[in-house]
Amino acid sequence: MYLWGSHLEGLENFTHEFNKSIDFDKILFEEDIKGSLAHVKMLGEVGIITEDDCKIISNELKNILEEIKNNKLKIDLGEEDIHSFVENELTRRVGDVGKKLHTARSRNDQCALDLRLYSKKSLIIIKSEIKKLIETIIEIAQENKETIMPGFTHMQHAQVTTFAHYILSYGQMLSRDLDRLTETFDRLDENPLGSCALVTTSFNIDRFMTTELLNFKKPTENSMDSVSDRDYVLEILFNNSVIMTHLSRLCEELIYFSSSEYSYIKFSGKFSTGSSIMPQKKNPDMAELVRGKSGRCYGDLLTLFTILKGTPLSYNKDFQEDKEPLFDSVKTVTSSLKIMNGILKTIYINKEKMRESAEEGFLNATDLADYLVLKGLPFREAYSVVGQIVNYAIERNEKLENISLEKYKDFHKVFEKDLYNFIKIENSLKNRKVYGGPAPDAVDRQINNLIESIKI
Ligand code: ARG
Repeated sequence: MYLWGSHLEGLENFTHEFNKSIDFDKILFEEDIKGSLAHVKMLGEVGIITEDDCKIISNELKNILEEIKNNKLKIDLGEEDIHSFVENELTRRVGDVGKKLHTARSRNDQCALDLRLYSKKSLIIIKSEIKKLIETIIEIAQENKETIMPGFTHMQHAQVTTFAHYILSYGQMLSRDLDRLTETFDRLDENPLGSCALVTTSFNIDRFMTTELLNFKKPTENSMDSVSDRDYVLEILFNNSVIMTHLSRLCEELIYFSSSEYSYIKFSGKFSTGSSIMPQKKNPDMAELVRGKSGRCYGDLLTLFTILKGTPLSYNKDFQEDKEPLFDSVKTVTSSLKIMNGILKTIYINKEKMRESAEEGFLNATDLADYLVLKGLPFREAYSVVGQIVNYAIERNEKLENISLEKYKDFHKVFEKDLYNFIKIENSLKNRKVYGGPAPDAVDRQINNLIESIKI
């Protein structure tokens, strides 16, 4: 059923199909009806419609909501959008009274309202999934404070760290993500209802009342901006893209950490699949999918940027295209966070293999240089002496801890027996107790601060 008047001829089927959004905005039914309930209550309270009309409309809107929720009422996908569907369904049931619902309102502020309500709901869900993932990271960190592994730069063995220190870096990324979502929530928590098409209305509506009823912080300031503002959607899409970047990097690492070349970790069979031809295969499909799905989230962000750029004030139908990217991004991030949590909860950490691997690649070379500095050499000189020692060790396929003291003394006379203790992997770790470092005490502090950060 078309909404507009007889000056229009009506759309042909194909054009109607092209024009409508109900196939995707149907998921906004709850937000739409809640918005209408607040609107109609306000219309009744300020006397724009009678108390009786208000009751009739409200009761039937509540029935419609319940029936959709209980699958008793099917949303008619022939309608243009969810707003038209609800209004038409209401009028079909209560007659002409239903036609009063749209007094002092436009679909422009209505769809802006629905999207803000949906955004608030989604942010709460995503935040809770991030918190769950951080909790899992904290558990893993608590169990792996002494799990020595090589730290990498440029994918080369660099210095000693622990699996706790490593995984907590992702805890930090996710905690920043959480902050960003909180800030976005705070900024979008404004009620656009009452902006109507673009310049509000001649009726004496009370925007503060609907603001309170709908649990917004305040009404939006400028009605023209309100119906054309999609900044908060961009923000969510950006935030989601950052989250997916973090998950994708973690997946990438876990995938190669699980390869036979590394064997640092094993994925649980619950999060792996086999091959249709190679019977021995156990593939990290879930981690690969999370990594892959980051692509669609970036695409969603770019889609909306492209839609908005060049749209004049105020509402344009282009904005209808804001929904699919948002819905897609929210769904992708929520499911990816859940999967990531499942992956981490069930992962097997091969402590022995990581420890073994930490023996390779001269992770303690910097410690040897630090040792010389403690003996009085300037760091650059110490660095150059150790460079020569490392070359010597590479040529002989030797580890630093296995070179004799005599030989060390050939490189520099200050070397003493205590060097061997100083460059032990465990000591190399313990000595890095600086704020933020991998020593178990420093890691404890990081864990405690992270626990605090998710309480808010
Ligand atoms: N389905 C539309 C949307 O999502 C609703 C607003 C329509 N407004 C209009 N003036 N055509 O953007």
